[in-house]
Amino acid sequence: MVHATSSLLLLSLALLAPCLSAKQCLLTGKWTNDLGSNMTIGAVNNRGEFMGSYLTAVTATSNEIRVSPLQGTLNNINKKSQPTFGFTVNWKFSESTTVFTGQCFVDKNGKEVLKTMWLLRSNVDDIGDDWKATRVGNNIFTRLRTLKE
Ligand code: BTN
Repeated sequence: MVHATSSLLLLSLALLAPCLSAKQCLLTGKWTNDLGSNMTIGAVNNRGEFMGSYLTAVTATSNEIRVSPLQGTLNNINKKSQPTFGFTVNWKFSESTTVFTGQCFVDKNGKEVLKTMWLLRSNVDDIGDDWKATRVGNNIFTRLRTLKE
């Protein structure tokens, strides 16, 4: 009897362990990337949709940088602890658009990190310039900590 009870206890612990250890990576909040750009992501709704704002540290134009809106979706229908996502930034100081896709990870120190890749489409006047109108790159985002924290 004692043996059956302890086996049941061990089995329950083994089943619960992954749920207890996996910290959820959450998108909502303020982030900064390896270029020094900052973004704020708002609440994610029950369809996985979110909005936010992006302040880039760099630009491919000579225009004055302005805060620009972003819109995206989080894929978390299976309630993964490290979900994938994508968002689009509609730049308000240029005619360009950037799409980001990535995954929200929790690193070995328990710190959330967004590993992303992006495509930046610039506006060209001539279809002959299409070949040089799209840049590609990657960015790593970590949570922006304020002095208060
Ligand atoms: C433009 O130059 O037309 C708009 C700004 C583009 C900024 C790019 S988007 C990808 C990369 N990551 C950043 O944080 N900023 C640059």
